[in-house]
Amino acid sequence: MTASEEDWNEQDSQDFIRYGEYFVPERAAQAAVIASAIPTPPPGALILDLCCGQGRLSAALLEAFPQAEVVGLDISTTMLETAGRELASFGDRFRTEHFDLAASAWRVRDPAPWAVVSSLAVHHLDGEGKQQLFRDVYAMLRPGGAFVLADLVEATGPLGHELARRMWDDAVREQSAEAGVPAAYEKFHELEWSHYHYPDPLDRPSPLGDQLNWLARTGFAHVDAYWMKAGHAVFGGVKQEGPTA
Ligand SMILES: C[S@@+](CC[C@H](N)C(=O)[O-])C[C@H]1O[C@@H](n2cnc3c(N)ncnc32)[C@H](O)[C@@H]1O
Repeated sequence: MTASEEDWNEQDSQDFIRYGEYFVPERAAQAAVIASAIPTPPPGALILDLCCGQGRLSAALLEAFPQAEVVGLDISTTMLETAGRELASFGDRFRTEHFDLAASAWRVRDPAPWAVVSSLAVHHLDGEGKQQLFRDVYAMLRPGGAFVLADLVEATGPLGHELARRMWDDAVREQSAEAGVPAAYEKFHELEWSHYHYPDPLDRPSPLGDQLNWLARTGFAHVDAYWMKAGHAVFGGVKQEGPTA
């Protein structure tokens, strides 16, 4: 499966660059948790940021790990150009690569990455697609490294659904008001951004419990959820050194 016209487009990229600060619950906190979930990278280690967008997570990782390099991959020209521009101060420690998350060619990497991360994008793959991605990331990782995801997750029942819907609304309303941009909350609804209000075939989040099980079944160790709020979670696991089960 590859990206189609019904998938993410350049207007979505423009909207996310303009409003991502307000639409994502505690975006900076999520990036800090991801950095904390990556075992200390050895000198020269490579980190892949899948669907890097304008590079906010990549920048946080480059700051947290001065010994590491980051490759930001994305399908959107707008995002790749913005990331290249905004992270230029990191010099050759950051570079971008055009890719389609759903394609397979990019999944064979040399050198092997120490960590693979992704924020708010893997939910574009269906359950089968996520499980294949988890297997491919496990195969490409250096032993000792980690796979850490921040993503929209699906509720498993009406209570979880209602809580996620309400808490996501509250988070966007608060973040918009705190920044003095209350119109961003109106835009959140005008753009029908919330999966919990406006389900869209482009969004195929899976329950967090399923994803933790898939990671463990793939072979990842120490699989855990590290943070969760308003239908968003940060979770992942480590590829252990030595023989695996
Ligand atoms: C919601 S944004 C998140 C961006 C960034 N990871 C962040 O958290 O700020 C989703 C990103 O996924 C990218 N994307 C969507 N579908 C993709 C695909 N099939 N292949 C590669 N990138 C894709 C978009 O271009 C966009 O940058």
